[in-house]
Amino acid sequence: MKERATAVITDRAGHRPTVGLVLGSGLGGLVDALEDAVTVPYSDLPGFPQPSVSGHAAALVLGTLSGTPVAVLSGRAHYYEEGRADAMRLPLEVLKDIGIDTLILTNSAGSLREEAPPGSIMLITDHINLAGANPLIGEKSDARFVGMTAAYDADLRARAERVAEAEGIGLSTGVYAWFSGPTFETPAEIRMARTLGADAVGMSTVPEVILARFLGMRVLAFSVITNMAAGMTGAELSHEETKTMAPKGGASLARLLTRLLEDMS
Ligand code: HPA
Repeated sequence: MKERATAVITDRAGHRPTVGLVLGSGLGGLVDALEDAVTVPYSDLPGFPQPSVSGHAAALVLGTLSGTPVAVLSGRAHYYEEGRADAMRLPLEVLKDIGIDTLILTNSAGSLREEAPPGSIMLITDHINLAGANPLIGEKSDARFVGMTAAYDADLRARAERVAEAEGIGLSTGVYAWFSGPTFETPAEIRMARTLGADAVGMSTVPEVILARFLGMRVLAFSVITNMAAGMTGAELSHEETKTMAPKGGASLARLLTRLLEDMS
């Protein structure tokens, strides 16, 4: 399946990217910034998921962003959709096979810090796996024992912080806690996560970080803050709010990523 998906991509697109991007809820707008874009719907790629979440596209888009070829997974499958933490394994293996060695992940998240309000961007420095699931359960090789001490690449993070500063784009840093979803957290869970050292919470990304490290890719990840986490303002949370707020922070994230890719090339 993996070989067939890889063949479909190399047949349709002449791009040879080494950087891959995964776009989260409401953040698909970044693909509009791609030049020479070739869109391959996941439905044409054997083994790719059919995401069921509104606000998520379902296509691999190859193109160039400020001159750098990139492969963009626009739309992801989440653990909460089918109970499979490895739902993104095949797409990430295919990215690896077409030559991707650096993966940039994005998501929408709730903030646990007053200083990181909705609309702002957080650079993820580390994570806490509160979902308790792992995409490598069932993997038989010794490669499953992945070290996670330096999962979020320090050089790429330093570069991202430098670029953000130069561009005047506000960027906080922090720890992302993965909850399974699909319900939002309770206020008590948010107080717990804060006590444990989390700065933002969300329902994605961590399994992909684990898979990318398993595949030997460098990882960089950003959260677009769409809301204050449960119990912090008294307001009820909703997916509508995520979809409405994501493009706001998403616009500055797109600017940051464009400049970052320029800097990396
Ligand atoms: N919790 C979990 N996932 C989220 C949130 C949240 O508050 N906001 C956006 N995605």
